[in-house]
Amino acid sequence: MEITKICCIGAGYVGGPTMAVIAQKCPQIQVTVVDLNTERILAWNDKNTENIPIYEPGLSEIVAEARGRNLFFSTDVEKAIDEAQIIFISVNTPTKTYGKGKGMAADLKYIELCARQIAKVAKGDKIVVEKSTLPVRTAEAIKSILDSTGNGVQFQILSNPEFLAEGTAVQDLLSPDRILIGGDYSVEGQKAIKALVDVYSNWVSPEKILTTNVWSSELSKLTANAFLAQRISSINAMSELCEKTGADVNEVARAIGMDSRIGSKFLKASVGFGGSCFQKDILNLVYIAKSYGLNEVADYWEQVIIMNDHQKRRFSNNIVQTLYNTVADKKITFLGWAFKKDTNDTRESAAIYVADDLINEHAKIAVFDPKVSRKKILSDLDYLETRTLEENEKSIFTSEDPYLSCEKAHAIAVLTEWDEFVHYDWQKIYDGMQKPAFVFDGRNILDKTKLEAIGFVYQAIGS
Ligand code: NAD
Ligand code: UDX
Repeated sequence: MEITKICCIGAGYVGGPTMAVIAQKCPQIQVTVVDLNTERILAWNDKNTENIPIYEPGLSEIVAEARGRNLFFSTDVEKAIDEAQIIFISVNTPTKTYGKGKGMAADLKYIELCARQIAKVAKGDKIVVEKSTLPVRTAEAIKSILDSTGNGVQFQILSNPEFLAEGTAVQDLLSPDRILIGGDYSVEGQKAIKALVDVYSNWVSPEKILTTNVWSSELSKLTANAFLAQRISSINAMSELCEKTGADVNEVARAIGMDSRIGSKFLKASVGFGGSCFQKDILNLVYIAKSYGLNEVADYWEQVIIMNDHQKRRFSNNIVQTLYNTVADKKITFLGWAFKKDTNDTRESAAIYVADDLINEHAKIAVFDPKVSRKKILSDLDYLETRTLEENEKSIFTSEDPYLSCEKAHAIAVLTEWDEFVHYDWQKIYDGMQKPAFVFDGRNILDKTKLEAIGFVYQAIGS
């Protein structure tokens, strides 16, 4: 089957960049990205592609090239479904905040809504692709909803999880380590797999395209995120031991990373991992294991989250302790709020939890992040429901100028590893601060020797 029309439901951090790259690499395919969120679609259609709703290096250029040619953003979900041969579902699957599985299971209500809408609209056969990260065996539920119409339309469900990381999404999409496609072993299933393989083959070499059964594909995505997060919690656990023993976690990471069986990536000790995926997906894995009665499996993976929570709490506790056991009315400047550099995404960022702890201690927090607005920072804190909006507003100060943010601060805490922080004029920052001037480097990016020579009291993670 020659694919000429693709639609993607969900114009978020995955749907937007993924479809932009497919459109760029497959000019013969019309790609339409739809979303219920009108504001988001308006932003994707903004004349100035610098204003698209997601900041990713290289993305606005790709959108500028493909948009209006074969890449379209729209709120007309039904029309896009009706026209497409392949429909990607790329909607959010957050942790449930209510009912059974609250705080653990993935909330699949948006997925189910998509399936029902596809079932309602489709008049011809469709390939439905799970792009969202889903609990293993979700395809079964989707298929049951799609097949319930009884109108003779044939649906094939494929699992095609996305492995991009934010901040490097474009690069990850252009040269993926692998593309994973799970499908049915039937003749129809194999045909559907081939159709999707052909789309990716426009720019990905065949040995990098892996096909499996649907359940392996669904579970591989949760497994990959669990393994990656586990490495961070493992090195963070060692960072605490390093601090007690005089070992340096950067040196330990380097030493173990040179063992080719371990490898050097994802061994950077930090204030704790954030992002919309790791915590959500591990909690989901824990929930699935428990639901099969696999309590040891569940406990094993839950420890990755427990360690990460401990690492965030340890960071804020250390700030309070070092500042003579009180931060009441002290100004603490956060450099960075995003969960990692090169993104404007703040979901589950460690900064939110560290700020919340310090505001509980009556600190005043000044935040500077090159890509995150005051509105977003306040809404992140409000979401925790620790205190009122007014109280948060009184505790958070923001400025467009990092030097102003640091002025008269008792301490600076580095929460995100933005490159520009390394190149600041640290002498100028020191001169404007209260003394002793403390720096808590939650990302181990600053030069300890240089900062100590200026006069800072400098503390990193794991040394
Ligand atoms: P997101 O919140 O940025 O985007 C999801 C979008 O879907 C939103 O704009 C929302 O309005 C829209 N939506 C929800 N229900 C809809 C419906 N019924 N019809 C139309 N639009 C609807 O989420 P995201 O970060 O892009 O993540 C999407 C999925 O991809 C999740 O399952 C996530 O786990 C997975 N994932 C995310 C990443 C990442 O780095 N963010 C990486 C890999 C996989
Ligand atoms: C992750 C997965 O990497 C990606 O494959 C998946 O598709 C989505 O989830 P993402 O959350 O966007 O991607 O970013 P990632 O680079 O994995 O970083 C997640 C968090 O871990 C960030 O807060 C980052 O700062 C932190 N991290 C990462 C560390 O603390 N140390 C490391 O060594 C690596």
